Amino acid sequence: MQKNVSRCQVLSQEKIAPGIFSLWLQAEEIARTAVPGQFVSVYCPDPSRLLPRPISLCETDAAGGKIRLVYRVTGENTGTQLLSELRPGDALRVLGPVGNGFPLEKAQGKKVILIGGGIGIPPMLETAKRLESPIAVLGYRSLPFLKEEFEKQAEVHIAAEDGCEGTKGTVLDAIREQNVTGDMIFACGPTPMLRAVAAYAAENGLPCWVSLEERMACSVGACLACVCRAKTEDPHFGTRTRRVCKDGPVFSTGEIDFVFGSSTAESTKSSSDNGKPKYRTSFQEEVEL
Ligand SMILES: Cc1cc2nc3c(=O)[nH]c(=O)nc-3n(C[C@H](O)[C@H](O)[C@H](O)COP(=O)(O)OP(=O)(O)OC[C@H]3O[C@@H](n4cnc5c(N)ncnc54)[C@H](O)[C@@H]3O)c2cc1C
Ligand code: FES
Repeated sequence: MQKNVSRCQVLSQEKIAPGIFSLWLQAEEIARTAVPGQFVSVYCPDPSRLLPRPISLCETDAAGGKIRLVYRVTGENTGTQLLSELRPGDALRVLGPVGNGFPLEKAQGKKVILIGGGIGIPPMLETAKRLESPIAVLGYRSLPFLKEEFEKQAEVHIAAEDGCEGTKGTVLDAIREQNVTGDMIFACGPTPMLRAVAAYAAENGLPCWVSLEERMACSVGACLACVCRAKTEDPHFGTRTRRVCKDGPVFSTGEIDFVFGSSTAESTKSSSDNGKPKYRTSFQEEVEL
């Protein structure tokens, strides 16, 4: 498996909401080749943390050779906390771009509903920039982030669990209350949200693609740490699984078996309570490959 690791320079780092950071990196090759919905895997500045952290591309600037990551610090003494301490001029090793991205070619001439939940919102920004008149439905635990940037690219509908803005409740509550309609759905967010979105799409006959999140180790398809359940056999492995890092992270909901749930992570791509990720399960220790 080929690993495209670049040494990138930090251009800026900004806290945009409690626990949420926006990081711009100079990353010529990634910016030139990446498509919306792909991600990068970022090595921590502390080399004793061996595994890279998968983070979606929030924006890419091909002309300027820059990429933007928007990420949540998941807790004290984590890799993401170390990332948040980086300053302009610091160097960072980044693997990527990784994965497939959203099927923009299927969206031509269609009204696409982009649904983002929690830390699944960032990748929908670059996706919105590449679509014609998209609709964005953004779900937060509380105060919104990236909202103004989405408003420049899309018709925006907000859901907040605490009711501080938009519809009080989930993204699906917002879709129903604010009468959002469209031809197809692209979504990214915590697994329970994606499962509900998939059911909504099926009920309404809407084609739907979701970006899954699974715990990852190698990020290049070698270790099988990130497999999710699929409805059909994988032609290579002969099992009803897909590797989220290599075959995804974006899948048609017709391909994924949401009945069993995605296998390892009820994702942390969600808002947090008192800094504790809502959907986080206990997780294996970081392991060396
Ligand atoms: C395809 C994909 C895209 C993602 N995009 C974003 C994003 O745009 N913004 C964002 O804030 N978060 C994103 N995440 C989640 C992010 O990868 C985790 O929050 C992060 O890896 C946690 O690392 P840590 O150092 O804070 O935690 P630690 O607890 O120190 O991590 C320990 C190990 O577990 C892995 N791990 C822990 N949680 C996750 C997780 N949820 N998913 C995968 N690996 C995990 C870490 O990579 C690391 O190897 C994405 C995850 C995936 C799979
Ligand atoms: S993380 Fe190793 S195969 Fe996906």
